[in-house]
Amino acid sequence: MHDRRHLENWEPTVPGTWEERNGTLSWPAQWSTLRSLARRGMSLPFVVTVDGQFAGQVTVGNVVRGSLCSAWIGYWVSSAMTSGGVATSAVALVVDHCFSVAGLHRLEATVRPENVPSLRVLEKLSFRQEGVFMRYLDVAGAWRDHLCFALTTEDIPNGLVSRLLATGRAHLD
Ligand code: ACO
Repeated sequence: MHDRRHLENWEPTVPGTWEERNGTLSWPAQWSTLRSLARRGMSLPFVVTVDGQFAGQVTVGNVVRGSLCSAWIGYWVSSAMTSGGVATSAVALVVDHCFSVAGLHRLEATVRPENVPSLRVLEKLSFRQEGVFMRYLDVAGAWRDHLCFALTTEDIPNGLVSRLLATGRAHLD
C-alpha cells in the first residue's frame, strides 16, 4: 500500500483505485486467483523474503506447455529493500526452478525502456534483448512500448545462481 510511487508507473492498469487494489481487504481475492492459476499449472507465484521479512514478489505467468514450454516473468521489490541485489537473486532462483523442476524452456521479461533498475536486473542476469513490443501493455493509464528480453535453457546450462556465484555477483554465507 505504502509503495504507490515506487510501483504505480510500472504496473498494468487495472480497475479500481490504488487503495482498493492494494488494501488488506483486496489480498484474499488476489491470493485466491494466484492459487487457482497455480493449481491449474498456468502460473508460478512466489513471495520474496529477506531474513524472514516480506520483500516483494516474483510471478511467472501465462505458462504454456506443449511445443512452446514458455512463460513470462515479472517482479517487484519493496522500496525499503531496493538496490541490494534482492530482485537479481530472487529472479535467478525462480529462473533456475522454472528451467529444472517446472520443465520450462523459455522465459520472457517485458520492460518499459524507462525502467532503468529493472533493465539492470535483466542485464545482470544475462537476459537477451530480442525486440520491442510497440504499445504493448496498458501501464499507468496509457499503452506503453516495452522491450522484450528472454532466456532459454541453452543460455544457462548450469543455471543462473551458479553463474551469479561464479561471477562474484552472489555469495553463499
Ligand atoms: N539508475 C541506474 N541504476 C539504478 C537505478 C537508477 N535510478 N536504481 C537502481 N539502479 C541499479 C542498482 O544500483 C542495481 O544495479 P547494481 O547491482 O549494478 O548496483 C540495479 O539497478 C538493481 O538490481 P537489484 O538490487 O538486484 O534489484 P532491486 O532489488 O533493487 O529491484 C526492481 C529492482 C524490482 C526493478 C525494483 O526497483 C522495483 O520493484 N521497481 C518497481 C517495480 C518494477 O519496476 N518491477 C519490474 C517491472 S518489469 C518486469 O517485471 C519484467
